[in-house]
Amino acid sequence: MLRRQFLHSTALAAATAAPPADDDAAWLRVRKEHFSLPDWRAYLNTGSVGAAPNRVVKATNDYLAQGASYATDVYPRWGYEAMEPHRAALAKFLGTSKEELALTHNATESMNLIANGLDLRSGDEVLITDQEHPSGRGCWFLKQARTGIKIREASIPIPPRTSEEIATAVLSAIRPETRVLSFSGITTHSGLLFPIAQICAAARAKGIVTVVDAAHLPGQVPMHIDSFGCDVLAASLHKWMLTPPGCGILYVRKDFQSKLWPTIVVDGWQNSKDAIKYMQLGCNNRAELEGTLAALAFIEELGAEKIYARIHHLARYAYARAAKFPYVKLLSSPNHELYGGMVAFELDRPDYAPLWTKLAQRKVWTLRGPKIRISSHIHTRPSDIDLFFDTLKEVFG
Ligand SMILES: Cc1ncc(COP(=O)(O)O)c(C=O)c1O
Repeated sequence: MLRRQFLHSTALAAATAAPPADDDAAWLRVRKEHFSLPDWRAYLNTGSVGAAPNRVVKATNDYLAQGASYATDVYPRWGYEAMEPHRAALAKFLGTSKEELALTHNATESMNLIANGLDLRSGDEVLITDQEHPSGRGCWFLKQARTGIKIREASIPIPPRTSEEIATAVLSAIRPETRVLSFSGITTHSGLLFPIAQICAAARAKGIVTVVDAAHLPGQVPMHIDSFGCDVLAASLHKWMLTPPGCGILYVRKDFQSKLWPTIVVDGWQNSKDAIKYMQLGCNNRAELEGTLAALAFIEELGAEKIYARIHHLARYAYARAAKFPYVKLLSSPNHELYGGMVAFELDRPDYAPLWTKLAQRKVWTLRGPKIRISSHIHTRPSDIDLFFDTLKEVFG
């Protein structure tokens, strides 16, 4: 079962404070108490950047203010540290060890650190899929321009009905010259949950380096990196984990660290141990990292499983509403186990502009483009989703 790969962190969830998934009134109280979203805003774009809870904003601001005042004798260093407590807390939540976790700014940066740090030669093949985000593509095309590697795309059936279909599409595209397999754990335009562990196990058995773009995983689905069995993984924390913007991670499996060069270093890098060598970025986003700890505490207090249950409940509601429109072509799977908190679709309409105009007037915010994506998080109200689909009906019938 697909979701089993994500369930290892259940034990970490406090699972006390969060209401049941279908208790709209109680979740509305959570929104009002913990978020600064105005009542008039329907924010359905966590998949791009999340809405940081009040305590996250406060922790970030407090650190920034204290640092700027130099009112204490503790120097508010802005970089070069190992950030052990932050890495340890994140590693525990994400299901790995702090020695394998580096703090970065986002999934894009982490993907570039991965592509840049691998020793690949002209003719080596990197297999990606046709569902990758520009951040999961660009880094490999840059590598291609510099080294002459080949890039091939596995074509994923959209929408798939089983995780087996996805695994088969990816794994059957492997060729003898494939050196690296790079794919999203949850896809950006279709919101699909890939069977990460199954794909990684099969690819690694063939000696292929496995790269997971997990930009959407932390905070959307309970996860356990070690159980994925990948070599490297990139993620953003400012989407579903609700940290301040500019916080991400790079995971590098311990016995893979000798095979991945760091890209940004300072003198003495040769001696830096474990994944710290991938985070020698100079002055860092120290205040936002305090916000990250606050976000982590918030999520653990509610419980990762309970959060998942609520956002998935809302996503299923969005799917059901979308499925009623004859001109909506769903990209998300009819099998709800294959999506988490994101539902995506296209419209059989030549011009979406009238829809964007009306949505803007009504303060409804989704990912806009030829592919529309509705993200539901714990602050999302069913009425936000209704407002989107009622507007769609008004505009296109
Ligand atoms: C699959 C995927 N990878 C990478 C990214 C880039 O994320 P960030 O801008 O946080 O680096 C996104 C953004 O939505 C994404 O969907």
